[in-house]
Amino acid sequence: MATATAAKAKKVAAPKVKNQQMLIDGKWVDAVSGKTFATTNPSTGQTICQVAEGDKADIDLAVKAARKALETGPWSRMSAAERGRLLYKLSDAVEEHKEELAALETLDNGKPLRDSLNADLPLSIKCYRYYAGWADKIQGKTIPIEGRFACMTRHEPIGVVGQIIPWNFPLLMQAWKWAPALACGNTVVLKPAEQTPLSALRVAQLAQEVGFPDGVINVVPGYGPTAGAGLSGHMEVDKIAFTGETRTGQIVMEAAARSNLKRVSLELGGKSPNIVFADADLDAAVDGAYFGLFFNQGQCCCAGSRLMVEEKIYDQFVEKLVAKAKVQNVGDPFDMATTQGPQVSEEQFDRILGFIEAGKKDGAKLLTGGDRCGTKGYFIQPTVFEGVKDDMRIAKEEIFGPVMSILKFKDIDEAITRGNKTMYGLAAAVWTRDIKKSMRVAQALKAGTVWVNCYDVFDAAAPFGGYKMSGMGRELGEYALSLYTEVKTITIALD
Ligand code: NAI
Ligand code: MG
Repeated sequence: MATATAAKAKKVAAPKVKNQQMLIDGKWVDAVSGKTFATTNPSTGQTICQVAEGDKADIDLAVKAARKALETGPWSRMSAAERGRLLYKLSDAVEEHKEELAALETLDNGKPLRDSLNADLPLSIKCYRYYAGWADKIQGKTIPIEGRFACMTRHEPIGVVGQIIPWNFPLLMQAWKWAPALACGNTVVLKPAEQTPLSALRVAQLAQEVGFPDGVINVVPGYGPTAGAGLSGHMEVDKIAFTGETRTGQIVMEAAARSNLKRVSLELGGKSPNIVFADADLDAAVDGAYFGLFFNQGQCCCAGSRLMVEEKIYDQFVEKLVAKAKVQNVGDPFDMATTQGPQVSEEQFDRILGFIEAGKKDGAKLLTGGDRCGTKGYFIQPTVFEGVKDDMRIAKEEIFGPVMSILKFKDIDEAITRGNKTMYGLAAAVWTRDIKKSMRVAQALKAGTVWVNCYDVFDAAAPFGGYKMSGMGRELGEYALSLYTEVKTITIALD
């Protein structure tokens, strides 16, 4: 299935996995209904194992356990420093099991093992460690108000937090959700994506082993409209954090509004402009543009899916980019030479092929790829379209696959105007050697993150989130603490 011959690199054996239960109140249990669902290996389309299928009844039990742990369990009496210590231990445990976890992630999601090992695992480990350090540094202020009063603020945990995550970075999204929530003293009910529940359940086991008290973390696998809706509409959940499709984010927010006005943070879709000026380092920009779209099989919320190239270098740029797309190794994600694995599911695979058809029909020019790869599993050829116009479907909607759209522009003003012509605002990038130009563009783009002469640079300390319909709130960094704390003002009369 390889599109190029690479030196035969190491192949790792796929792990064997037994059927999985869910974690509620420190116990591994079956679903109340007794139901299970299959999780699939996207390289083959075959079932890996059965997983307990949570629904509203299971969510309810998990929320009760999280409430008890929050209010009366050992967690409620634990010092902030001790909470931090538990998070450090969890980061160490994830690090000690990083090969195992990377293999599990690759099995369930399909991403190349070299990516799960070199990106997902280190980023997850660092995220737990970063927030471990925050746990005992979350503090309020003393405020000089008028009159004879002492006024102070406390940054308290919000309470029971529901978290719903997607399948594109299962371990990392769990870390982005758990680490700040736990550092701030909340208790958690997590619903992993139905496509990729395995790594979350394994990390939950590790969290139990390092000593998180019963009920502090609960994991309920299941589907969105059942378990997910149960969580976002629950009256005893104080906050819901969601990552996924924009439309689903709207459903989650509506459920939060209709139930108990629980706090909401959303990290949603994107159609991020990646703008390359003629004065850029061309080879670096080609590499960055390729990586910015094709990394993780194109399944990134911040994918640089509108590649905008200045007219003067357009032909040269496109030629180099297509050459790069043609020498990828698409195939077995357990082969360390593989650069692109399968899409996560048959549903996503079909959806992406539908977008490719729409691109052709709307008159974009297909330069390479455009079809499935092989006959089994959900592999798609690295695909590049040029001559893409702003109003084509492939330029407007999130494709979430290995499909690049290249657009041409003339000058900086046009780049800014068209760059902002989207309902999304998650990320953007600009490639130029001119510092003034880079700052002008970075300031003008309505996006939560702008990368200059780089792409997908993530760090647990750097905030991430969206403008407009890409979401609300900022994850990571100090900013994420405000997603998981309530501010309480205490005023004491001194007379
Ligand atoms: P999705 O938004 O439906 O799924 C994400 C999570 O939300 C999953 O855990 C799912 O079970 C849950 N969910 C679904 N419906 C729900 C509901 N009614 N209430 C509560 N939770 C619910 O995304 P899906 O269907 O897996 O992928 C569709 C498209 O969404 C992709 O093609 C891509 O464009 C986008 N997407 C964006 C992601 C991002 O990181 N921004 C991640 C995953 C998908
Ligand atoms: Mg869905």
